[in-house]
Amino acid sequence: MLILGIETSCDETGIALFDDTHGIVSHAVYSQVEIHAEYGGVVPELASRDHVRKTLPLIKQTIVEAGVKLTDVDGIAYTAGPGLVGALLVGSSIARSLAFALDVPALGIHHMEGHLLSPMLDDNPPTMPFLALLVSGGHTMLVNVEGLGCYEILGESLDDAAGEAFDKVAKMLGLGYPGGPAVEKLAKLGTPGRFRFPRPMTNRPGLDFSFSGLKTYTLNTLNEHQNDPSVAADVAHAFVEAVVDTFLIKCTRAIKQTGLSALVVSGGVSANQQLRLGLSDLGKKLGVTVHYPRFEFCTDNGAMIAYAGYRRLSASAGEPLAYKVRPRWPLNLLQPPPT
Ligand code: KG4
Ligand code: ZN
Repeated sequence: MLILGIETSCDETGIALFDDTHGIVSHAVYSQVEIHAEYGGVVPELASRDHVRKTLPLIKQTIVEAGVKLTDVDGIAYTAGPGLVGALLVGSSIARSLAFALDVPALGIHHMEGHLLSPMLDDNPPTMPFLALLVSGGHTMLVNVEGLGCYEILGESLDDAAGEAFDKVAKMLGLGYPGGPAVEKLAKLGTPGRFRFPRPMTNRPGLDFSFSGLKTYTLNTLNEHQNDPSVAADVAHAFVEAVVDTFLIKCTRAIKQTGLSALVVSGGVSANQQLRLGLSDLGKKLGVTVHYPRFEFCTDNGAMIAYAGYRRLSASAGEPLAYKVRPRWPLNLLQPPPT
């Protein structure tokens, strides 16, 4: 079974082909970062227009690189939400039209289900049930994954997502967009212990998160030390340390609460090395295996959508021709594929 995956929910056009015997046989991601950089964030209309330009050429490229023909494709999976409505409509319209022309099933995939399943593309994949920490630019969630489509949200961010906080702190530090990798790099140059930032919502019970206050604390610290050239790296260090520590505290709680023995960490922020080091240590301490996607599949990509499409299309027959995208789509509304 060969599944074409199409991801266009935000500012990356991601295309991939998943084969049930060989795994991902080819994939390509085109990032629109340069287009949006001068605006300091994603401009939805520019994103949609660029997906129009890039999606079909990237599909052709992945087909050629895999050494297959378009007519070999058995099904098409596309991101149906959550995301930017125009961007989602580009990918879904192309996916639906191609599927109609090829007379194969198509299926809209939840972007966060794609992230959640992405570590399964690696050697040593986790088996369900597991605990998932989903950390991206739009979402921060702890999820009890009982099975495919059975997702209980244990906690989530009440305001900014972790990736969004990284992006906003990067802006304060004059590091540009997207901020995560730049803040990570600068943080490594900082002096440990110079500042200690709050670990939000850790001194009360529960598994929810909040990063907006930490962001303000970061800004205030920067303003108080305006004339100190070394402050940027020390602030970045303290910010990353606070975010990582917050995740360690909440993951410990969630593991103890659920008794689960595997932790999956995925989404753009899961590329962060400090976070990976901290969680891997925690896993050893608590006797829990910790799984991440391979580096290139942490941020948005078509491979995770192709794989989620494979998991669902191999269990059911796709969806009717009428389709809709869902800019907002709670993950816990998903259902297992019909049997
Ligand atoms: O999963 P993703 O590509 O898109 C969404 O679904 O939102 O995540 C993008 C987010 C951005 O906010 C970006 O700054 C963050 O992931 N990110 C990182 C790192 N790499 C990407 N945050 C911290 N450290 C990183 N190395
Ligand atoms: Zn994403």
